[in-house]
Amino acid sequence: MDYQVIIPAAGSGKRMGAGHNKLFLKLGKRPIILHTMDVFTADPNCRKVILVIQHNDEEYFKEILEDVDHSPKIQLVYGGNERQDSVYNGLKAAYADGIILVHDGARPFIRLKTISQLVRSAVESGAAIAAVPVKDTIKKAVGHEVVETVERSSLWQVQTPQAFRFSVLLNAHEQARNECFLGTDEASLVERTSHTVKIVESDYDNIKLTTPEDLYFAEAIMEKRKRFG
Ligand code: CTP
Ligand code: MG
Repeated sequence: MDYQVIIPAAGSGKRMGAGHNKLFLKLGKRPIILHTMDVFTADPNCRKVILVIQHNDEEYFKEILEDVDHSPKIQLVYGGNERQDSVYNGLKAAYADGIILVHDGARPFIRLKTISQLVRSAVESGAAIAAVPVKDTIKKAVGHEVVETVERSSLWQVQTPQAFRFSVLLNAHEQARNECFLGTDEASLVERTSHTVKIVESDYDNIKLTTPEDLYFAEAIMEKRKRFG
């Protein structure tokens, strides 16, 4: 089943503290963003990759994309102040039908298997997200005082990709914009429209590179994949 993907890459990577967009940092010999894009550009079911970038980063993106295979299916779009604005700009550049995925530029370890499961689930249900069961005990607190231990068996740690029928995602974004709601992921916008969101169990490797120590984990995951796939 065909799909298209929006990859928001227009952040500034403040928490990484590299002094520039963290997606240009190298993992092995290549920038993080190229690792993230690999699986999509190589997948024949992916008909379009909409890469959302900042104006300031345009030259560098163009330079690194020169050597990428399948580059005709990549389209560059300018992002906005918030991640949600960047995704919305991406939506405006997408084909207005079928299944659309949103996947963070900062998650380079996404597997094709998870993508295929998400696409299948979104075809059936309209909305599906990648997630893993929470491993830690989670407590709710007011200030530093515990109020409650949250039942762990019902908790999921949410990742991207998140997959939707195009109309489901567009409606959710437009409703959020009209109501000035800012969410941290696409599913939170879709949930507000009362549409069901399904979970596809992903894997713990699919981390988001956010702070400097995540780079050590990333090197370890790369090494593991080189040896064991
Ligand atoms: N992103 C985006 N547009 C924004 C903000 C973020 O496209 N206005 C993208 C980032 O480039 C990243 C993804 O959304 O691929 C997830 O965001 P995050 O991990 O928070 O990255 P940054 O916003 O760059 O980092 P920070 O919050 O530490 O500044
Ligand atoms: Mg951010």
